[in-house]
Amino acid sequence: MSEQNRSSEVLLKVQEKYFPPEEIVKRAWIKDYEKLYAESIRDRESFWAKVAEELHWFRKWDKVLEWNFPYAKWFVGGKTNITYNCLDRHVQNGRRNKVAYIYLDEDNNERKITYGELLELVCRIANGLKSLGLKKGDRVSIYMPNTIEAVATMLACARIGVIHSVVFAGFSEGALRTRIEDAKAKVVFTATYTKRRGKKVELLPTVKKAIEGLDFVEKVVVWDRDSEGIKEGEKFVDFYELVKTSKPYCEPEEMDAEDPLFILYTSGTTGKPKGVLHTTGGYMVQTYFTSKVVFDLHEDDIYWCTADIGWITGHSYIVYGILANGVTSLLVEGAPDYPDPGRWWSYVEKYRVNVFYTAPTAIRMFMRYGEEWPAKYDLSSLRILGSVGEPINPEAWHWYYKHIGGERCVIVDTWWQTETGSHMITTVPSYPAKPGKAGKPMFTVEVDVVDKDGNPLPPNTVGFLVIKTPWPSMLRTCWGEPERYEKYWKTIEGVYFAGDLASIDEEGYVMILGRADDVINVAGHRIGTMEVESALVDHPSVAEAAVIGKPHEVKGESIKAFVILRKGVEPSEKLVEELKDHVKKVLGPIAVPEEIEFVEKLPKTRSGKIMRRVLKAKELGLDVGDVSTLED
Ligand code: WT7
Repeated sequence: MSEQNRSSEVLLKVQEKYFPPEEIVKRAWIKDYEKLYAESIRDRESFWAKVAEELHWFRKWDKVLEWNFPYAKWFVGGKTNITYNCLDRHVQNGRRNKVAYIYLDEDNNERKITYGELLELVCRIANGLKSLGLKKGDRVSIYMPNTIEAVATMLACARIGVIHSVVFAGFSEGALRTRIEDAKAKVVFTATYTKRRGKKVELLPTVKKAIEGLDFVEKVVVWDRDSEGIKEGEKFVDFYELVKTSKPYCEPEEMDAEDPLFILYTSGTTGKPKGVLHTTGGYMVQTYFTSKVVFDLHEDDIYWCTADIGWITGHSYIVYGILANGVTSLLVEGAPDYPDPGRWWSYVEKYRVNVFYTAPTAIRMFMRYGEEWPAKYDLSSLRILGSVGEPINPEAWHWYYKHIGGERCVIVDTWWQTETGSHMITTVPSYPAKPGKAGKPMFTVEVDVVDKDGNPLPPNTVGFLVIKTPWPSMLRTCWGEPERYEKYWKTIEGVYFAGDLASIDEEGYVMILGRADDVINVAGHRIGTMEVESALVDHPSVAEAAVIGKPHEVKGESIKAFVILRKGVEPSEKLVEELKDHVKKVLGPIAVPEEIEFVEKLPKTRSGKIMRRVLKAKELGLDVGDVSTLED
């Protein structure tokens, strides 16, 4: 959502405070946020050391933090394996037969897998990876639907130190190819298809096109969902054949705390997507801890995060942080409102879900369907409701609170990013929340709102959100592009630049106003304007393109493109559709512009940079601002 979107009127309204019910405070892991926060700031390293001690290490760290600006090392010298902490630790401590995931497809077919069974599946895939010649440090791309097979494949990589790069299965061949190529993945995991709205969405043909001519891709492992037989030739391996023929136990690789765990691509202001690199120890410790205290997870909880494993939310809060806590989760494939808008709420009722984590865009979609849908189901098991991905407008907050939470639940509005790896700003369940404000910094995290020179701004003033000190689950670099990594710490010298606009009130509650850069947040997904522009210019009829985000009632923002056609090409409705199709084919449905306008000229600076800010202001009927650098 843009700054213009949230007027001063909204700012004023966002003053109410909601205190948590007593039962929630009573069972909460964190009872006194203020006290613990103050302690954590006084001694950051002891704080994280204490958390890390709750997990298993083959060798203890020598030093908690080594900060060599802008490079951090956490738990230096420590040896661990994240899958040991997510699986073996539980299997050895009485949770062997506890359900790890309840998977559901759109036809409500259910498959449960216990911690013991998941460990075996992960080990078999890991041994399969070894038999394909993969070893520690190699990369594997995972282009699979939101299923147990996909989660197990991620964990199998982590088991043996192979770096996974999950690519959201809603992306198309161009986006997939860029990511496979950049990571130089030796093996790609996929499935024959995923199902959405009752229809098969083929994945294997997309992979085949995406890897054309990429000789470094040695194998493609295919989960053949209808057992039709994989007839694609030598490069292609059957997933369950590999599982069946591999041994059921695989020793966990002793990983250094700073050994890479995964790459996850995300959009930036310029250029191609960046490969955000996360490492083992710090990421494990902080995702474990935030899962535990923000969702207040206890032994018998049923937890459900509605994200897809293709995003960081899925990595941290479906897979790693959640499994590390040993709870039972739902894992759901397909559309939220198919076959009808009661689908999600029927699962909350049936499985007695206690903690539910979703995105504002989903809430706004359900608001439109009407409260009669959730009202049909018994949602009384819910205790904690989470929000993530974009600012939650107070209206959606109140609807979520009332119609999903029955005015008994706590809402945690978690602000974080692919780069931060885990929650950075939120209120913990025992602490009062303010609708529309993410809340307070997590333990040891120091945030501020500053001007472009780094000067702190007074309360309730909008500026740039920065993080002042390193944290365990921070990104370590951008894959193959250290200069892009360093830019996070050098845009405003010395602090981490989040790329968001924010303000902080007198009580220290942070309110996020949206991106400060040319990144569009469509339904909680980050789309770079450059990526969409490149996809458009890739079409033979297009000479130039500029893309902006516009406020959208349900999606937060939608994409609008301004296109200059090549000489001799006539604008038409048909061409609009053709261009949309083209973007869909190259990048995927989420990146398709809602509107395309043909223009003769684009506002540019004298150095030739498109001034998207000017386009946006004109589109929204706002003051165009300083245009002294405009070419004409
Ligand atoms: C961007 C990060 C973190 C997982 C999902 C997105 C926006 C995220 C919130 C929130 C306001 C939020 C920010 C941020 N964002 N959570 N609770 N309130 N804005 O991860 O794709 O890396 O995007 O999402 O703009 O910078 P991502």
